[in-house]
Amino acid sequence: MSQQDKPTYTLPGNKEKIELLKAKNAEALHGGGIPRIAAQHKKGKLTARERVDLLMDEGSFQEIDKFVMHRSKDFGLDKEHYLGDGVITGYGEVNGRLVYVFSQDFTVFGGSLSETHAEKICKIMDMAMKNGAPVIGLNDSGGARIQEGVNSLGGYADIFYRNTRASGVVPQISAVMGPCAGGAVYSPAITDFILMVEDTSYMFVTGPNVVKTVTQENVTAEELGGASAHSTKSGVTHFACANELECILHIKKLLSYMPQNCEDIAPVYPYEIQGDESRPVLDTLIPENPNHPYDIRDAVRGIVDEDSFLEVHENYADNIVVGFARIAGRSIGIVGNQPQSMAGVLDIHASVKAARFVRFCDSFNVPLLVLVDVPGFLPGTDQEWNGIITNGAKLLYAFSEATVPRITVITRKAYGGAYDVMNSKHIGADLNFAWPTAEIAVMGAKGASEIIFKKEISEATDPEAKLQEKVDEYTSKFANPYRAAHRGFIDEVIFPSETRQKLIKAFKMLENKVDKLPRKKHGNIPL
Ligand code: HXC
Repeated sequence: MSQQDKPTYTLPGNKEKIELLKAKNAEALHGGGIPRIAAQHKKGKLTARERVDLLMDEGSFQEIDKFVMHRSKDFGLDKEHYLGDGVITGYGEVNGRLVYVFSQDFTVFGGSLSETHAEKICKIMDMAMKNGAPVIGLNDSGGARIQEGVNSLGGYADIFYRNTRASGVVPQISAVMGPCAGGAVYSPAITDFILMVEDTSYMFVTGPNVVKTVTQENVTAEELGGASAHSTKSGVTHFACANELECILHIKKLLSYMPQNCEDIAPVYPYEIQGDESRPVLDTLIPENPNHPYDIRDAVRGIVDEDSFLEVHENYADNIVVGFARIAGRSIGIVGNQPQSMAGVLDIHASVKAARFVRFCDSFNVPLLVLVDVPGFLPGTDQEWNGIITNGAKLLYAFSEATVPRITVITRKAYGGAYDVMNSKHIGADLNFAWPTAEIAVMGAKGASEIIFKKEISEATDPEAKLQEKVDEYTSKFANPYRAAHRGFIDEVIFPSETRQKLIKAFKMLENKVDKLPRKKHGNIPL
């Protein structure tokens, strides 16, 4: 090559270098471009950046990997690059506390997951594990980047692996704010809580077209995997939010009840004890007729700090209520049978819902309050054939293995195996209280009398009167908390109105509880 054929380069000065960085930053802000941003808004969705701005404390977000680009060459992708490659990642603060976040950008290849997109998510997950802070994922993605093939699938698996390794180490929260299809659903599923936005988000393993081909069912994306389906039918999502703003506010609220990691405790809110903290309204909560329902959430509200109750899984398996609250400023997790739905009976869905919640609380040092009014396990072929034995055992196992402070209050019925399961003294509860209205027995008085006095009743001249006599006898002997209190299975029978003050003192007493499981690799929970 002759001297004059050589290419000449004009090297930029520092001013140009700064201008170049400015230009790149501006380019990255626009994701897949203005028309696609407009299309996103038209669907009633915010952009990935707008979501991060809403979530993070003002000015706190620090982006990482803003200039990462994909490495694909197939199907013309070598000519189509976007800075950031469809996901915004970084760290910042929510209410003054460190969190890591990734927010998928639907305007870039539909938020689809490429190898580099996955690497960005993995990087912040690794940082979160090292530095002990929650990971929040804002999902809005068409799934695996189809042009990348197995590279993309590998990227998903890298994320699933980290989700699993991080489980129980740092809290993980997934908001689904757009499509989430195929294997992509398994990352949110491993995380601790899922939130979905009504009408604009959906999750399914196979979409409506595949469903139609395989099962001949006609179903829309919304019916199959929208927020409503997953918050009521499958229980996959814990919260169905009316819109994206509500979803982000819910994430912030949820974070306020949990610690940064498994070595930490949840933030303590300032609280001054007010008088004797009695709540007279609770003395009249239980109906005279033991078969009449009441709302266990009224008991919760009468016990916890005002407006502090955040119900989880509100519309799924509503025969059990779970959620977070504060008592004298400290976070607790609540599990309560709900007498106003199926008499508060324990069935498969209720057992699994409660077990999962108990596991979260125990992983992250959130003490448990258990309110008991349960007539037993739900009988029937449906329950038996679908595994109430294994699924009920999940709740039993979750309570038995929990080492956080655990307190039980029996408000009314505690019958049969459900008495044992619902955080009884025998499976390691620290303090067990009962209201005077408690009935602790193997079963209800009528069922019990019909079995043990069968012969006597059938031979009586008036069987009905005999049955009633036996029911009354059984009721007076067992439909109370005193037999259990005589044995020390109940530590104290308390007035309902003094429940709050008792619990404030009890949780304070248990503040420094230390309990360790026997040394093992891990237990074998009946999954
Ligand atoms: C690459 C994708 C993409 C994908 C969407 N896009 N999904 N690019 N890979 N998976 C691109 C589109 O080409 C389009 O690009 C832009 O994103 C927006 O997509 P639209 O279809 O125009 O948007 P919309 O009508 O809102 O429909 C969104 C959608 C649809 C429902 C998500 O795009 C769709 O069905 N995508 C494919 C979903 C899918 O089958 N994913 C693979 C799942 S299997 P332009 O340039 O026009 O803006 C999977 C395996 C994971 O994920 C396994 C892990 C174990």
